[in-house]
Amino acid sequence: MPIIFKKPNRYPVYLCRGRKMPVELFGGFFENAKKMLVVTDETVFKLYKNKFDGVFPDKELFYCVLPSGEAAKSFDAYRTVIESATNCGLHREDGFIAFGGGTITDVTGFAAATYMRGVKFASVPTTVLAAIDAAVGAKNGVNFIGVKNYVGTVYAPQFVYVERDFFKTLSKRDMISGYGEIIKCAFLGADITEDELKSKLPSLKLIEKCLRIKENIADGDVYESGKRKLLNLGHTFGHAIESLSGFSIPHGECVVKGINFALRISVALNGLSEEKFGRAMRILTAAGHDVTCSYPLGKLKEFLIYDKKGNGETIDFVAFDKDLTPIIMPITISKLIGALE
Ligand SMILES: NC(=O)c1ccc[n+]([C@@H]2O[C@H](COP(=O)([O-])OP(=O)(O)OC[C@H]3O[C@@H](n4cnc5c(N)ncnc54)[C@H](O)[C@@H]3O)[C@@H](O)[C@H]2O)c1
Repeated sequence: MPIIFKKPNRYPVYLCRGRKMPVELFGGFFENAKKMLVVTDETVFKLYKNKFDGVFPDKELFYCVLPSGEAAKSFDAYRTVIESATNCGLHREDGFIAFGGGTITDVTGFAAATYMRGVKFASVPTTVLAAIDAAVGAKNGVNFIGVKNYVGTVYAPQFVYVERDFFKTLSKRDMISGYGEIIKCAFLGADITEDELKSKLPSLKLIEKCLRIKENIADGDVYESGKRKLLNLGHTFGHAIESLSGFSIPHGECVVKGINFALRISVALNGLSEEKFGRAMRILTAAGHDVTCSYPLGKLKEFLIYDKKGNGETIDFVAFDKDLTPIIMPITISKLIGALE
């Protein structure tokens, strides 16, 4: 059996490599379902369209194939999933499988949460980023008016099944993007070595370390009223950059750029020393990330008002104290931008 990792939010996360999809496991969680809808994207479908053959021997299996990339996190794509489920005649006891990267786990979770007021779903993440972050933690949603994750819910899957071998076909850029979220975990306190940050393919041990740090931080704070906000490290500026790029810069790359902003702000406002800043930059660039941002502050500022960690003007920004410990720092957008000028 694979390593069984329980939590966050009490659903199991299975970590394995080189296994066939375990029929008993998938069937067991969807015992009463007669129909299953696998939601995936064009790239994953092309590579792995046979992966679910025989996994649900006593059920009808349907596929909903969405465009690859951030286009899958649109209202159009959400509508496609709901229409597919309707056309295939899925009922409340039937289930969805999210089979893809973070965009697919996000849109499928949202569709599952809202189809007939909620049906069961499970996630099989196929990117590093989805395995360590997007597929766990129960948050889902779609983008709207060009803004990241503008509409969504908090709705937990039945289980998450991580198969490391899927990562072998990722493009270099998508692999690097995944390492962006691993780097975030390193800054949040996960015991991750420089060698691990430089590894070509994350080990199950590294994935588990990232999941554990997320579990420690998110546990007991599903709706992000307190310490869970720490998981947004790098995301305030990261999401602004991602939106400004029209979603052409991958999420994990934007998070790293966002952490760079958080470090610079911490030097300016929290007494983070140049020596500690230098050490932090070595971690930030260890996996080969470009930490620079070509967008002017004025443009970034326009997107900060959509930050869900704030109330419009004041943001719960995740920065560092003088010892490089991450902290939640309520601050006005003007002061934040002022610290960078
Ligand atoms: N809900 C959350 O808590 C949460 C957390 C972090 C990120 N996210 C979201 O996740 C998204 C980013 O996730 P992502 O980086 O996985 O993006 P993605 O889903 O767009 O996948 C990246 C690319 O990799 C391709 N791909 C997927 N699996 C593959 C495989 N095994 N082999 C080859 N190609 C493959 C996809 O087709 C896509 O082109 C963003 O929208 C971000 O906002 C959500």
